[in-house]
Amino acid sequence: MTDDVWLPFRTDEVEGLPEGPTYRFWNGAQEFPADPADCVLYVVPYMKGSETAVRPMAAMTSVRVVQTLSAGVDHVQPGLHLLPRGVQLCNARGVHDASTAELALTLILASLRGIPDFVRGQDRGEWRAGFRPALADKSVLIVGYGSVGAAIEDRLAPFELARVARVARRERETARGLVHPISRLSELLPDADVVVLATPLTDETKGLVNADFLARMKDGALLVNVARGGVVDTKALLAELETGRITAALDVTDPEPLPEGHPLWHAPGVLISPHVGGPTSAFWPRAKRLLSAQLNRFVQGEPMENVISTTGA
Ligand SMILES: NC(=O)c1ccc[n+]([C@@H]2O[C@H](COP(=O)([O-])OP(=O)(O)OC[C@H]3O[C@@H](n4cnc5c(N)ncnc54)[C@H](OP(=O)(O)O)[C@@H]3O)[C@@H](O)[C@H]2O)c1
Repeated sequence: MTDDVWLPFRTDEVEGLPEGPTYRFWNGAQEFPADPADCVLYVVPYMKGSETAVRPMAAMTSVRVVQTLSAGVDHVQPGLHLLPRGVQLCNARGVHDASTAELALTLILASLRGIPDFVRGQDRGEWRAGFRPALADKSVLIVGYGSVGAAIEDRLAPFELARVARVARRERETARGLVHPISRLSELLPDADVVVLATPLTDETKGLVNADFLARMKDGALLVNVARGGVVDTKALLAELETGRITAALDVTDPEPLPEGHPLWHAPGVLISPHVGGPTSAFWPRAKRLLSAQLNRFVQGEPMENVISTTGA
């Protein structure tokens, strides 16, 4: 038996990998690169879906760490019960902050300023002039004020906003101000011109944005989802969009990928990007730095970072 590390990168693509383990390249191909029973650390292929992520897990009888390259771990969660006890699940907290926050800003600005309409006009050679909302003087509410949420606020800072409100599970003070507990969400919603979702998808956040949530949003408000599609009740969102009372910019949808012909594609006031918050040129260097650091910790017997859960704990 060898101490195998399954990596979705070739070893010569990642600087500073420690010596010791046998590295096996696996990026979700049908065939496994070696016996999964020999794998001690499994780096889950990026953006290959839950079925691929979970497929080798039942046979990974020696695995000690499962490392995702995404911040969200909802796609590996269905396989955790197949693993031995004591396996640490680590995520890629931080790796996607710059890229995802940049997309959140892009979606906010594009939606408010009417970029989709300009592009449609340009396709038809139409000059669609007129007044549009600006981001300046707006109130923004960030629901899920973790690594991505804080990076979004960092990027909102120069836009002369009226106010940024922050919500997480627990109340706390930050350098930028108070983070409200989720229990205060319903009071904060009616004040926000832009509501940005940046929570993980968990049992608590699934369907958090339901008909009640949407009804509490201000007339003309914009909902931005860079979290996970399942945080929003798609049916309720469709119903609200149909009234024209709010607009939405969605990087993530439920279902995903959004099938051809789905009513969300053509709902009024919706801008959809195909889950591209994370996968950009900013991903590779940050992901490789994380892997190199985590593998060095693993080999030296140091505590892993970004531990989300431990099986059997
Ligand atoms: N669109 C994309 O491509 C993309 C890219 C990266 C990440 N994401 C999504 O963004 C999520 C957040 O990533 P992150 O790195 O910022 O994670 P994080 O640092 O763990 O932050 C998550 C935040 O959500 C809050 N939260 C969790 N459950 C909540 C609840 N029930 N109600 C209110 N707030 C809740 C947490 O509150 P506490 O601080 O109080 O615990 C925390 O502030 C990921 O899980 C992923 O789903 C999407």
